[in-house]
Amino acid sequence: MEPVPGSIRISYSDRMKDDSQANNSIWLATAETPSQPPLQENLRTDVCIIGAGIAGLTTAYLLAKEGRSVVVLDDGPIGGGMTGRTTAHLTNAFDDRYVEVEKLHGEEGARLTALSHTSAIDRVEQIVHDERIDCQFERVDGFLFAPPPDNEKLLDEELAATHRTGLLEVEKVARAPIDSFETGPALRYPRQAQFHPLAYLSGLARAIRRDEGRLFNQTHATTMEGGDNAHVETSHGPVVSCDVIVVATNTPVNDRVAIHTKQAPYVTYVVGAAVPKGLVTRALYWDTLDPYHYIRLQSLDDHDVLIVGGEDHKTGQANDCAERYARLEQWTRERFPQARDVEFRWSGQVMEPADYLAFIGRNPLDSDNVFIATGDSGQGMTHGTIAGILLTDLIQERKNRWEDLYSPSRVTLRALKDYAGENINVAGQFADYVTAGDIGSVNELKPGQGAIMREGLSKIAVYRDDTGTVHRRSAVCPHLGCVVSWNACERTWDCPCHGSKYTAEGRVYSGPANTDLSDLD
Ligand SMILES: Cc1cc2nc3c(=O)[nH]c(=O)nc-3n(C[C@H](O)[C@H](O)[C@H](O)COP(=O)(O)OP(=O)(O)OC[C@H]3O[C@@H](n4cnc5c(N)ncnc54)[C@H](O)[C@@H]3O)c2cc1C
Ligand code: FES
Repeated sequence: MEPVPGSIRISYSDRMKDDSQANNSIWLATAETPSQPPLQENLRTDVCIIGAGIAGLTTAYLLAKEGRSVVVLDDGPIGGGMTGRTTAHLTNAFDDRYVEVEKLHGEEGARLTALSHTSAIDRVEQIVHDERIDCQFERVDGFLFAPPPDNEKLLDEELAATHRTGLLEVEKVARAPIDSFETGPALRYPRQAQFHPLAYLSGLARAIRRDEGRLFNQTHATTMEGGDNAHVETSHGPVVSCDVIVVATNTPVNDRVAIHTKQAPYVTYVVGAAVPKGLVTRALYWDTLDPYHYIRLQSLDDHDVLIVGGEDHKTGQANDCAERYARLEQWTRERFPQARDVEFRWSGQVMEPADYLAFIGRNPLDSDNVFIATGDSGQGMTHGTIAGILLTDLIQERKNRWEDLYSPSRVTLRALKDYAGENINVAGQFADYVTAGDIGSVNELKPGQGAIMREGLSKIAVYRDDTGTVHRRSAVCPHLGCVVSWNACERTWDCPCHGSKYTAEGRVYSGPANTDLSDLD
């Protein structure tokens, strides 16, 4: 296959050297997605999709291929959300384990789960081939290994459950193919995959435009109204009228409560260290720790980058990102002594559903023509692709055997304990109203720092930018009223309740909130 030259550039970009990009992923540093104009006028379309990440663009691509007119709105660039910060393992090795999926969803549920993730990898491969997308898509093996105190029993049980799903080619091997440390026994998953996620999105965007889809950036969707006169309003005024709305904003910005009590936001960290080309076997690797480490390689110029993720914690509930990067780097150096400079450090957020499976389908308690895709866990590349396939079938009024499994309205009674645990944790965050602030005076802030200050009964989010200007916003999250906390590595305000994030100046960056932190003046 002759690849089509795209915007991918697998070499350093000047953007990387800019300190303001300190939380820049390898993908953002090595590829540019095509920039689209903002929406300037009212439009009419069949389907309006909000969010130009993998879920939104896969849905738009598949619908446009079937002749539906689509409009995609994003308030940033294409891939500017979590798809630009992923590590892009494409896998049917379920990260919460098939043993656990079986307990909540039964053998048939686990079988359909495996089938859907396998189909998603195949579909990505098919699209890469059909659209000739130069995104370094590559089939690789995946290896799951169990460091102490986990043991072989865990692997044996997972292997048996995996075989029950129909993935019979998965096998136990004496060790993962890493020379520099003893992994112990591992499960080998053949025909997994990896790619450059932003190069893939660029290819999707190109194909959507060819099929007469329309994409708009810097266009914030403020209101999504389903029903007979379905429409999406945007912050600069233009309105998109449509038959169907798909909210693919990673966590739905159109749902106040129903979904957000069933999933929890976690921050996860990544380091990318240079290693000599070919020294580490190209494969996907995962350990069984909680939180687990996830590892892959990406070629860059004359070397490989060993990309290692882990150190997850609940969003807004830890204030030690520098220590977490240091621990991740140490973990990497102990096991891969050939690692040279750390060239990339970045973090992002994953939404963990209480019963392990994504929520893809009709938005609960809403009109029938409003759909959502969320709850990806660490498997958003395949869940986002499953969303594209499943939502296209639902919108085209075709049967899909994954519909019930991923239904956002499902009630998994056996998961109630986990739902309750996460919601007690959320309730605990409201106590923050009565605690003292992090600082007593703005004078304590250095340039680039943010902190919460108490003023009378109010909590204020204060940030001093690099020029010394102080920005003050209410610290109360407009979603459901929790107090945000400062994320020093990303320079964002993060809500510990359901994961809304705001820029240092208080502009909403990701949901479920859909408005900025309130102005005080
Ligand atoms: C560090 C890290 C590592 C990961 N590793 C993996 C992995 O190896 N494999 C894997 O499968 N998954 C992984 N994931 C998860 C995966 O990256 C995500 O689940 C996936 O990218 C989510 O895609 P999405 O399309 O749903 O959301 P996003 O890519 O976040 O796209 C949502 C878009 O919606 C836009 N938006 C939001 N609100 C509005 C609004 N009101 N108006 C207009 N636009 C709006 C945003 O700007 C954004 O572009 C990882 C995640 C992280 C953070
Ligand atoms: S995200 Fe729900 S209260 Fe902030």
